[in-house]
Amino acid sequence: MTTSPLASLAEQTSELLTTIEGLTSLEALREAEASLTGKRSVLSNLQKSLGALEPEERKAAGAQLQEARRVVESALEERRALLLQSARLASLEADRLDLGDVVVNDVHWRLSIGHPGLVALTQRELEDVFVGMGFTVADGPEVESDWFNFEALNIPPAHPARGMWDTFYVDLGEPETVVLRTHTSPTQIHLMEQAVATDTLPIHSVMPGRCYRRDTPDARHLMGFHQIEGLVVDRGISFGDLAGVIETFTRAYFGPDIASRLRPGYFPFTEPSAEFEVTCTICRGEGCRTCSFTGWIELGGCGMLDPAVLDAVGIDGDEWSGFAFGFGIDRCAQMRHQLDDMRALIENDTRFLEQLS
Ligand code: DAH
Repeated sequence: MTTSPLASLAEQTSELLTTIEGLTSLEALREAEASLTGKRSVLSNLQKSLGALEPEERKAAGAQLQEARRVVESALEERRALLLQSARLASLEADRLDLGDVVVNDVHWRLSIGHPGLVALTQRELEDVFVGMGFTVADGPEVESDWFNFEALNIPPAHPARGMWDTFYVDLGEPETVVLRTHTSPTQIHLMEQAVATDTLPIHSVMPGRCYRRDTPDARHLMGFHQIEGLVVDRGISFGDLAGVIETFTRAYFGPDIASRLRPGYFPFTEPSAEFEVTCTICRGEGCRTCSFTGWIELGGCGMLDPAVLDAVGIDGDEWSGFAFGFGIDRCAQMRHQLDDMRALIENDTRFLEQLS
């Protein structure tokens, strides 16, 4: 009895698989392909030798051989896919352009990439504090009609309180008076109108954004500045809720050693109204020139929503009550980082900006 030509097929197959495993480049794979599965390969030679077998034996051996070929071929394809992928990755890596690498006369310079400015960073931090307290963040337009910026906020035309805001008027040739918003309070009106239209009261929102006033810039004022407005409309809201929100925010943003206090004030859209102050961040309450030796710095205004404002947006003041507050983001940045002059925020002096990167 002659030994079957397939006696050592298993070993031969595993040798082929080991060879395939050892192929480390597409080139090597292409070179080895003929000897692994081609016409002169071990497998093809075995195929030819089957001719000498009896028909029955030949059939069984043929099937066995076919299976071995399938295993080897699929290992080869798998290897090819893997090598193709790593070749692709390598070529991507080689083609990569470093746009920050600027070469001038063979000297390499690193281009510095930008980063958010202090106002943007401060706005994000403030948003985070309020989001942590359960507020949502909303946006409003910077160009407003007189109705949103003034009238709906209980400041009718020729009301003396208009003098509180030196206003830029925009002439669009329209009968309506259009202004650059002087504060973020008009966004309150948008939110309340929306909530009424969509029947989605209550509201717990903060609204950050840019505002404009016809002021001469100085150490504590800019013509284009940023405020963040807060608005709560819900059932059974009291002045205590307002004071609690202000105090919680103050400690969360400025730190536990900075407190807040409210002083009676006047705003047409709130009744009662208050100005809120925080411990002077320069002298920590001892008294210094910045705080006029009071130990306190004024940050913003607040109060309970005036019934006239609720009326203007069609909210039933018997069912709902609320409070609002607004303060300067730039002012917060100035106090927290103890900037002598707020104009540093807009001058783009790289020595200042680079401290933030
Ligand atoms: N809008 C006021 C300002 O810019 C600040 C302010 C005061 C906002 C009282 C309020 C508020 O929401 O209730 O001077």
